[in-house]
Amino acid sequence: MNTWRNLPGKIWVTLVSLDPRLRVRARRAAAELSPGEAELFAAMSRYDLAHSLAVAARLADDPLLYKAGLLHDAGKLRSELGLLTRWLYTGLEITAPALLRRIAAGIESQATGEGVMESMWGTPHGWRRGLYVQLHHGEIAAEMLARMDSEEELVHLVGHHQLEPRDERELRLKEADDAL
Ligand SMILES: [Fe+2]
Ligand SMILES: [Fe+2]
Repeated sequence: MNTWRNLPGKIWVTLVSLDPRLRVRARRAAAELSPGEAELFAAMSRYDLAHSLAVAARLADDPLLYKAGLLHDAGKLRSELGLLTRWLYTGLEITAPALLRRIAAGIESQATGEGVMESMWGTPHGWRRGLYVQLHHGEIAAEMLARMDSEEELVHLVGHHQLEPRDERELRLKEADDAL
């Protein structure tokens, strides 16, 4: 969740995203991933890369959680989720969460595809689709990973990272994610 509480973490991630060696560090970290997963990881924005590397670094003692840290936000597709939509989402989440819920419910009611990818493509291009992606990026990443036959537990962790944690691994991923 984006709240003021993790502002220091977000400032840190923003600074790390400016590091000229970020892509080199990302390539090194992606050595643990399959070729398809590595491609998905490398397609992320610099900010998401910096955030995901920092999340994964906190989970490095568990190889599965490490991969989940790297890939959990891979559903924030750069082509669909622009900077303005991110700010719109964060701004509403902080200042007007009830309005955000109403807008989200409106977008959800129009998203009638089978599965999250079809619903995403069926949502009008622009800020509406961007918000849909923001709301469902965990499931979107999970669907993409499932298509490339990633391990089931990884798909599960990534797909559930926006929901309430139900076991120790989900909790650790959420805590690292929320802090950064
Ligand atoms: Fe996320
Ligand atoms: Fe995240």
